[in-house]
Amino acid sequence: MTQTTEYQATAAASGGAATEKFVEKAKAGPDTSPERVSALASEVLSAVHDVIRRHHVTYEEYDTLKAWLIQVGADGEWPLFLDVFVESVVEEVASEHREGSKGTIEGPYYVPGAPALDADATLPMRADEAGTPLLFHGRVRDVAGNPLAGATLEVWHADDAGFYSQFAPGLPEWNLRGTVTADADGTFRIRTIRPAPYQIPTDGSTGALIRSAGWHAWRPAHLHLKVSAAGCQPITTQLYFEGDEHVADDIASAVKPELVLRPDVAPDGEEARYDFVLDPA
Ligand code: DHB
Ligand code: FE
Repeated sequence: MTQTTEYQATAAASGGAATEKFVEKAKAGPDTSPERVSALASEVLSAVHDVIRRHHVTYEEYDTLKAWLIQVGADGEWPLFLDVFVESVVEEVASEHREGSKGTIEGPYYVPGAPALDADATLPMRADEAGTPLLFHGRVRDVAGNPLAGATLEVWHADDAGFYSQFAPGLPEWNLRGTVTADADGTFRIRTIRPAPYQIPTDGSTGALIRSAGWHAWRPAHLHLKVSAAGCQPITTQLYFEGDEHVADDIASAVKPELVLRPDVAPDGEEARYDFVLDPA
């Protein structure tokens, strides 16, 4: 009973907060030509029409779809749904010509303006933050191998229960979020905890689809990062952990082999290194 209540609160709050934050960010969208809007919209509609013909979709199924689409909006789950099932391909296309480190999806839980931290950083966390301590360190360079002095690493991740601050209720505002400035030689050391695998909220409309289709709702544990430096293209990426069962089976299809960390045992928890390479702007 307690768990049911907790999940209900979480999905409602996570979905709603993600929608509010996204609508704010997307206010000034780009101008797309009528030709392009027409081409994209008619191809999407044709793909839907094809599915209806090939599968002989019934009126009952059509009404179920309508009701479900209405519910996704009412739950505020469009950011969650789209970032899980669509964003990975948008990222694939956007990064086609990049040489440096791999990027992957941003997901719905990025918040700009996390507290500024030095190159030797500890992410904001509760005094009794649960989870294995993790020292995450490395260096940021350009594609020619030059260190990028003062590169910025925005880091955010779920806690040991799989919840993100500012989206799930009851967490301190900037818990496990920070904006780290690398040293003059591009190095950084970030102390945090290893996040737990993330489960798409199961009680909302996205969860209903996942359940009805017999899929699972899990993403492997991951650190989110946005890495940027003057004169370079910023990257948005995620890092995963070898041995996590969902690395090979991510519902958001966002894992790339280059993004999997192999942490070593450290005196106080674990330690993992990752070096970032940024393409020229
Ligand atoms: C979703 C959540 C994430 O933490 C993530 O990285 C990607 C997608 C989601 O719920 O849509
Ligand atoms: Fe995430």
